[in-house]
Amino acid sequence: MAIWGGILKIAVLTSGGDAPGMNPAIRAVVRAGLNSGHEVYGVMDGYQGLVNGNFEKMTRKSVSEILQKGGTILGTARLPEFKELSVREQAVSNMKKLGIDCLVAIGGDGTYRGAQALTEMGFPVIGIPGTIDNDLAGTDYTIGFHTALNTIVDAIDKLRDTASSHQRCSLVETMGRDCGDLAVMAGLSCGAEFIITKDHPLDKPTLIEKLKVHKSEGRRNAIIVITENITNVHDLAEEITEKSGFACRATVLGYVQRGGSPTAQDRILAGRMGAYAIDLINRGITGVAIGEMNSKMIYLPFKEVLSMNNESTEELYQLVSKLQ
Ligand code: F6P
Repeated sequence: MAIWGGILKIAVLTSGGDAPGMNPAIRAVVRAGLNSGHEVYGVMDGYQGLVNGNFEKMTRKSVSEILQKGGTILGTARLPEFKELSVREQAVSNMKKLGIDCLVAIGGDGTYRGAQALTEMGFPVIGIPGTIDNDLAGTDYTIGFHTALNTIVDAIDKLRDTASSHQRCSLVETMGRDCGDLAVMAGLSCGAEFIITKDHPLDKPTLIEKLKVHKSEGRRNAIIVITENITNVHDLAEEITEKSGFACRATVLGYVQRGGSPTAQDRILAGRMGAYAIDLINRGITGVAIGEMNSKMIYLPFKEVLSMNNESTEELYQLVSKLQ
């Protein structure tokens, strides 16, 4: 490894589910890295690329005109095998062979678990939160969350139009894994009548009762936003139709939420975080995940971030009923 403080070889990868804004984050790491005099290498397809030795030397040109692109130019993957020591040893050996001094890993909780494991093996890593789920502690927002939120809001506004025309109730399933932030903030933005998340579970009898009242008041539509992995929404829509008399249709938004050009907010967040990763490396600080809290860049050890509870959007959830 190079003497810290001199010219370093920095690798960057994206891992786990892709998120809009990963490209601006890669660009920021590459440009800030090169501007600090370092060499930067892109790793293809997340931790899989480390294991396969799939590195590409990055130049300013390799990251030109990617700010506005969804997905990730480096590719991404999920690699459960990275839990195995022998697999990680292969990854570290490949990095050492190329003389890589430090890795910047952009992704969600799975990516951070891999980064923590590499840190424990003595390899310097910095984490950047990139996931639409907003389910990581140590940051107010993750890169990709705002773009996905806007995609959902756009879809629900459209669903409201058709629901109203047909006097229907629209049940919309959002992503987020176990985190309800996308559902709550989209519901708030669209004036959803009901929001169901892991923290605010489905209470069918109350939901059906409220829908009956809603319909009897002459309302032509209702929007129910529900986080994924709670129930089969198509079955629930049928049950609602049967028991409430309000014809219900389910829409699973799915992977459309992960695509698209990042919003300005995500591009700026990604730029700040990527540049901050290089600042930390220049200061010799690694083994940490970057976050933005109260508009300021911060960093915390991976171990801490992974053991903390991600604060929920309870206040926003309560706001929904206040504004109804
Ligand atoms: O973590 C991002 C996410 O899109 C989650 O919201 C979702 O549960 C999961 O990834 C889907 O994973 P996969 O792309 O492996 O199907």
